Amino acid sequence: MNKPVVLVAEELSEAGLAVLGADFEVRHTDGADRSQLLPALADVDALIVRSATQVDAEAIAAASRLRVVARAGVGLDNVDVEAATKAGVMVVNAPTSNITSAAEHTVALILASARNVAQAHSALKDGEWKRSKYTGVELDEKVIGILGLGKIGQLVAQRLQPFGVEIIAYDPYLQPARAAAMGVRLASLEEVLQQADFITVHLPKSKETLGLIGDRELHMVKPSVRLINVARGGIIDENALYSALKEGRVAGAGIDVFAKEPCTDSPLFELDQVVVTPHLGASTHEAQEKAGTQVARSVKLALAGEFVPDA
Ligand code: MLT
Repeated sequence: MNKPVVLVAEELSEAGLAVLGADFEVRHTDGADRSQLLPALADVDALIVRSATQVDAEAIAAASRLRVVARAGVGLDNVDVEAATKAGVMVVNAPTSNITSAAEHTVALILASARNVAQAHSALKDGEWKRSKYTGVELDEKVIGILGLGKIGQLVAQRLQPFGVEIIAYDPYLQPARAAAMGVRLASLEEVLQQADFITVHLPKSKETLGLIGDRELHMVKPSVRLINVARGGIIDENALYSALKEGRVAGAGIDVFAKEPCTDSPLFELDQVVVTPHLGASTHEAQEKAGTQVARSVKLALAGEFVPDA
């Protein structure tokens, strides 16, 4: 009997592949390359992706045998869940696999931005010993504004509290008492923009959040503010951020995600006040192992017609 076919369209951890084991025919393709992806989908039963593969209506239509799409990570913005559901395809993800990694990377970018770590590192490696140029700021007694106090936002708050900061958050879905129990004061978006010394985004990408921080919002912030985005590109408008940095209306930024990825060329790269990483929030061995094993288990259950619990 033919084994069900699982198409792995992006890198999956060894541990995840081991969970799939010998029960399936596992094939690999480059999901970011449509000319490879679409034909490869023709006879597969399951598809495993990260964030670079667009599982849109066209991809789903190209996969007549597809029963499950698994996203080895949290965000489902690269999967057309509605088209999948219409086609009877189950969509699963690994919703907690990388939240610790994303929160830790956020803290890394906040500190890197506060202390000019990347800029000073590059300058010194180029032979420049510039101590006053790279004078930074402390976190102590600063106001941290968190946009989206979900799982990752909460972990960021917990990790930053020992730095002696005040944490405020904008989250229209959370009760003020729940936030207060975490030592966080809920505020409106405007209040966060006006009061925070650091603003960090932890919202999913959606019609409502795309461009949430644009030109108007960046005219409301303190000129000393530093913005961090380890969530999704496009939530902070990159052109508006560039202008705000250039005009001195924003002091710095730590950016891990971009509206278009991969992004190897951006006006933001020209600015010394910006530290960037190539969508590394979830890129730790631990997170990838958890994401890989969680989605592989879900794929196994789904293809066996069994109940798939929330990971
Ligand atoms: C996620 O949504 O979980 C991350 O962006 C995963 C990734 O790095 O692909």
